Amino acid sequence: MIEIQNLCLVYGSGREAVPAVEEVSFSVGDGEMVAVVGPSGCGKTSLLLAIDGLVRPTSGRVLIEGEEVRGVRRDVALILQDAGLLPWKTVRQNAGLALRIQKRRESVDGILAALGLNGFERRFPAELSEGMRRRVGIARALALRPRVLLMDEPMANLDSLTRERIQNLLLDLWWEMRFTAILVTHDIEEAVFLGQRIVVLSPRPARVRAVVENPGMGEHDYRGSPEFLERAKVLRRILEENG
Ligand SMILES: Nc1ncnc2c1ncn2[C@@H]1O[C@H](COP(=O)(O)OP(=O)(O)O)[C@@H](O)[C@H]1O
Ligand SMILES: [Mg+2]
Repeated sequence: MIEIQNLCLVYGSGREAVPAVEEVSFSVGDGEMVAVVGPSGCGKTSLLLAIDGLVRPTSGRVLIEGEEVRGVRRDVALILQDAGLLPWKTVRQNAGLALRIQKRRESVDGILAALGLNGFERRFPAELSEGMRRRVGIARALALRPRVLLMDEPMANLDSLTRERIQNLLLDLWWEMRFTAILVTHDIEEAVFLGQRIVVLSPRPARVRAVVENPGMGEHDYRGSPEFLERAKVLRRILEENG
């Protein structure tokens, strides 16, 4: 379980202070996948980095399994927007990087296959499509078998077909592995497809505008159903409110 309690994050100080996150509170239960949606620049990445323990909150706190987060935890994996692959390492080596850092020797071939990357293990990032590179980034995180998966717009700037394909894969893997997940995105449809609950943030500094329940989530064909479209409409309305 992840508990975010009155989290505030301010960059700089004095006249240069930039408040990025203001009094954000919400929780994510074990095995739940929550989407966090908000306009670009509102503070989503800042919030996620604080949850991961890479950035220290100005006030408030984050608890994982009841323990305050004070640094990067071994049971939490983070996927950033650009997959962060090392160009001189192969797909298999890149996917194994996070495991290696934790001095673990498990094979990554199973997770690579689950992400449709079998046969590409010895290729280098430059030989792959952007969609494949993102999948290597996802494989690297999931190879850790994390209890918690944090994702910062992992499908941003992909063409819509590739994006939907990776969203489907992620949904399948979540059903299979049942990690607890927070998916940050500025894409309303992505939030509705992948969030059991959707936390809607205001423009900067990010505050929680609404938490929208999304019980229909969970199947590939949810996308495009009347309930899906209605939920997306509700989110769009909340995001467009002023003030
Ligand atoms: N290290 C930093 N120092 C100062 N300001 C920052 C820093 N990182 C982000 N910001 C500012 O904080 C705000 C929120 O950024 P970010 O969390 O990246 O938003 P988002 O991910 O929603 O686009 C932006 O105005 C950004 O310019
Ligand atoms: Mg961001």
